[in-house]
Amino acid sequence: MNLYRSGKDLINQFYALVKSTQIYDFKNDVVLAAADKFVTHLDKILINAPQVEFLRYRDYIFFNKLRMRFEIEGYASLQFLSESFKILKLKSISFLPGITPDEAIRFAALFREDHDLMLKSMTAGDFRSVAVQFAGPDEEIPDFLQDGEQTKRTYFKALMVTKNLIQNLWTGQPVNVKSFRRVVYTLIDSISQDEYGVMALTTIKNFDEYTFNHSLNVGILTLAMGQRLGFDKKNLVKLGTAGLLHDIGKVEINKDLLYKPGKLTAPEWDRLKLHSLYSVRQILKTRGLDEISISALVSAYQHHWNYNGTGYPAQVPSEILPSFLSRIIRICDAYDAMTTPRPYHPIPYIPTLAVRVVWERQGSFFDPILVKIFLQLFGLYPVGSCLELSSGEVAVVLKENPGHIDRPIIKIVRNRDQEPVDGARIDLSVNADVNIDRAVYPQKYRINPAVYLT
Ligand SMILES: [Fe+2]
Ligand SMILES: [Fe+2]
Repeated sequence: MNLYRSGKDLINQFYALVKSTQIYDFKNDVVLAAADKFVTHLDKILINAPQVEFLRYRDYIFFNKLRMRFEIEGYASLQFLSESFKILKLKSISFLPGITPDEAIRFAALFREDHDLMLKSMTAGDFRSVAVQFAGPDEEIPDFLQDGEQTKRTYFKALMVTKNLIQNLWTGQPVNVKSFRRVVYTLIDSISQDEYGVMALTTIKNFDEYTFNHSLNVGILTLAMGQRLGFDKKNLVKLGTAGLLHDIGKVEINKDLLYKPGKLTAPEWDRLKLHSLYSVRQILKTRGLDEISISALVSAYQHHWNYNGTGYPAQVPSEILPSFLSRIIRICDAYDAMTTPRPYHPIPYIPTLAVRVVWERQGSFFDPILVKIFLQLFGLYPVGSCLELSSGEVAVVLKENPGHIDRPIIKIVRNRDQEPVDGARIDLSVNADVNIDRAVYPQKYRINPAVYLT
C-alpha cells in the first residue's frame, strides 16, 4: 500500500465525514456511510502501522511522518485539515486500532466546534481510540527559518553548479551534465520537504550574477508549480531542467549588450531576442541528448511565446499553443524577471505588483489555469514583501498561507514610530485584528527582506 496515497485518501474521507456531520443528523445514511468508509480505510492502514497520526509542524501536515503536499487533487481537504489544526489549536491527532464508526462520527462533529469544546470533550474521556495533543503557546508559528540550514546549503550548492555550467559554456569548456542533473534532484527533494523555505531563497537577488540567479530561481519556481500540479518525479526533472536551462543561450550574447545599462535600442532588442534560439543550440551541444534535454530544448525555444500566439521567435503557424512546460516556465520567468533588478530596469517591481501584472495578463500572455495555480502558490503578497499594516507597523512576509492568498504569515520589523524592532510573527489567517494596508518598496524603510528570510 502506498502510504502517501493512503494518507491523502484518509484526509479526503475525514473531510467528507466532517462535512456530512455538519449537514445531517448523526443517524443519517450519508453520515453513516461516510463513517464506514473512513473507518474501513483506517483499519486497512492500521494492519501495517501501529497508529495513524496527523501532525502539524511548521505549518505543514504530516501523516505518519510523511509531509502531505498541497496539490490540485485533494486541495480542499488538506486545507480544511490544516485550518482546523490552527482553529482547534491542535498539534496532533492519533487514531488507534478499534475505532468504531460511532466514535469517528462524534470526533468528526467536534470539528464544527471551537478549541474549548474540543479540549473539554477530549479531557472528559469521551474517546477510546482517538487521542489528540494540543499545541503549546510557542508552537503556533514554529521557527522554520532557524532549521532551514539544509535548505540553504542546497540552494547555494545549486547556485554554484549553475554558475559553473554557465561559465563553462561561456568559455567553450565541456559541461558536466551529470552534476547538473544531480542539482535538479536535490532541488526536488528540498522543495517536496519545504517549498516555502526554498522559495524564500529565490528572493535573494544578486545584481552581478543575475543570469545565474535568475536561471536557478526559474528552476525552483517552476518546480514548485510542478509540485502543485501533481507532477511525478520524472516530469519534475524535465520541468526543473527546462527551467534552469531556458536562458542558457545568453552565453552567446555579447556581454556589453547583456549588461548594458539604460534603454536598449530596437536593433539591440532584436539581438537580445535571439537568445531563445541560442539556448536551443547550447542544449544541442551538451553531450548525451535524451528525453529530458529534448523537452528543455523545446521550452527554451518557446519560453517567450505567449498564450495568445504573440511573443518571439515568431510562431508558424501562430495558433500552436506553447507546450505545457513552456507555459509554466513563461510565467515563472516573467515573474522572476520583473522582480529582479536588471541593467535596463534597475528598480524592479515589488512582488505584489508583479503578481498583479501576471494576473492581468492571464489569457493573453499566460495560461489562465496556470495563473490560478501561480496565485495560490505566491499569494497576493509573496514571500519577502514589505507591508504597511493597519496598526501603523511595518512587516515582512515570511510565508504564504495556502488557501488564504491575502493573509500570509508576517514578521513585524518596524514599530509604530518606524523604529527597527525584532517584532512578533503573526499568522494573518488566524489573527483577524491586524490588516494589511498596502505593500511598499522595502527601501522606503531601509529594509532588506532577505535578512529575515535567510
Ligand atoms: Fe529569456
Ligand atoms: Fe529568463
